[in-house]
Amino acid sequence: MRTQVAIIGAGPSGLLLGQLLLKEGISNVVLERQSGEHVLSRIRAGIIETGTVELLDAAGVSGRLHRESLIHDGIEIAFGGTRHRVNFRELIGRAVVVYGQTEITRDLMAGREAAGGTTVYQAQDVRLHGIDGPHPRVTYRSDGIERSIECDFIAGCDGFRGVSRACVPQSALTCYERIYPFGWLGIMVDKPPVSDELIYVSHERGFALCSMRSRERSRFYLQCNLEERVENWSDERFYEELASRLDPDTAAHLQSGHSIEKSIAPLRSFVAEPMRYGRTFLVGDAAHIVPPTGAKGLNLAASDVYYLWQGLVTHYRQGSENGLEDYSRRALARVWKAERFSWSMTSLLHRFPESSGFDRRIQQADLEYLLTSRAALASLAENYVGLPL
Ligand code: FAD
Ligand code: DHB
Repeated sequence: MRTQVAIIGAGPSGLLLGQLLLKEGISNVVLERQSGEHVLSRIRAGIIETGTVELLDAAGVSGRLHRESLIHDGIEIAFGGTRHRVNFRELIGRAVVVYGQTEITRDLMAGREAAGGTTVYQAQDVRLHGIDGPHPRVTYRSDGIERSIECDFIAGCDGFRGVSRACVPQSALTCYERIYPFGWLGIMVDKPPVSDELIYVSHERGFALCSMRSRERSRFYLQCNLEERVENWSDERFYEELASRLDPDTAAHLQSGHSIEKSIAPLRSFVAEPMRYGRTFLVGDAAHIVPPTGAKGLNLAASDVYYLWQGLVTHYRQGSENGLEDYSRRALARVWKAERFSWSMTSLLHRFPESSGFDRRIQQADLEYLLTSRAALASLAENYVGLPL
C-alpha cells in the first residue's frame, strides 16, 4: 500500500489530522492498535478551547458539538469554604466549551467514514522503518497477515506509550519530566452537576474537581495517593470523601448515583524535544503530557495538529518545506506555555505530601493573591481559555 501520510494512532490527534488532510486531498492511512470500541470506551478530557472548536469546524465534524455542547463563561475556585467565580467573559471576553473527548472521537470517526478514509483498527506490531531517509515505511500485522505502507511522512499520534517516540534514537531527543506524588481518582455519573460551572476545590484533605459532560452527566475527581486502587473506592466512599472537601452548600447539591466509570490517572509533566525526526513528526501525547488540572492535554494535541496540517499543506501545495521545518519550534512554543500553566494550577490547588508549613503558607498566599488581583485572574483566564495558535 502507498499513502502520502501514515498516521499512527486513532486518538483525537490522529483522527483530526487525518480528517483535515483528507479535506485538502492529501491521502492518509490511520493505524490503531486497539478496536474502535475500545478507543471510545476511554473517558478523558471534557473542556475544549474555542481554538480547538475552530479546528473541528475546519475538519467539518463539529455539527453535533455546536448542538449539544455547553458554553462556560467561567469557572469557580473553592478555597477556605468559599466559592470564588473567575469570570472569563468579563475578564478577557472569551469562554470554553464543555464536550467530551469521547464525543469528539465519535464525531471524527463518523467524519472519516463518510469521507472514505482508511483506518485499520487492531493493527498489531506497528513498526516504523527508514524514518531518517527519504522513503519511510510502516509495517504492521492485521488479520494475521504482515502488511507494509510506503509513505512520504509519518505522523506519530500514538500517545505517551506509543511506538513512534520509541523509534526515534534516544540521542536525538531531549526529554524533560516531572512526576507528581499523587493521582486523580475520577468517576462519571448520570446525575446533574452540582453547579452550572466547574468547581476547582483546594482543600486540606486534597484537591477535588466537580466537572460535567452535560446537564445530566457529572464528572468528579479527587486527588488521591499513588498507591490507591479503584477497587477500594466504592461509590459511597467516593461521595463521602468528595462531600468532605466541599463547602456545605455545594455538598447539599451533590446527587450521588451509580458510577458508570471509575479510574485512577497518575499526574505527570513531560516534553520530548524536538517533535520531528527526519520524516516522522510527533503529535499530541506522543510528544508531551500535562497534568490534567489545566484541562490542556487534548487542546495541545489539537494545536500540534494545526501546525503539522499547515506544514503538510504548504509542502504539497507550494512545494515549500518551511512549514514542516518550523513545526517543532512552533508547537513547542505553545506546549511549554501550557506545561507552565498546568504545572502552576497543579501546584496551586493540590496538597503535596512533602510540603512544609512555609510551602503551605506560600500556596495560601498565592491563592489569596489570585482571587483578589484582577491582573492575576485575567492571566489565569487567558491561559485557561487557550493561548493563541
Ligand atoms: P491518545 O488519546 O493517547 O491516542 C493515541 C492512540 O494511539 C490511542 O488510541 C492508542 O491506542 C494508539 N496507539 C498507542 N500505541 C500504538 C501503537 N503502537 N500502534 C498503533 N496505535 C497505537 N486531558 C484533559 O484535558 N482533561 C482530562 O481530564 C484528561 N484526562 C485524561 C485521563 C487519562 C487516563 C489520560 C491517559 C489522559 C487524559 N487527558 C486529559 C489527556 C488527553 O486525553 C490527551 O491529551 C489526549 O487524549 C491526547 O490525544 P492523542 O490523540 O495525542 O493521544
Ligand atoms: C475535566 C478534566 C480536567 O482536567 C479539567 O481541568 C476540567 C475538566 C473533565 O474531565 O471534565
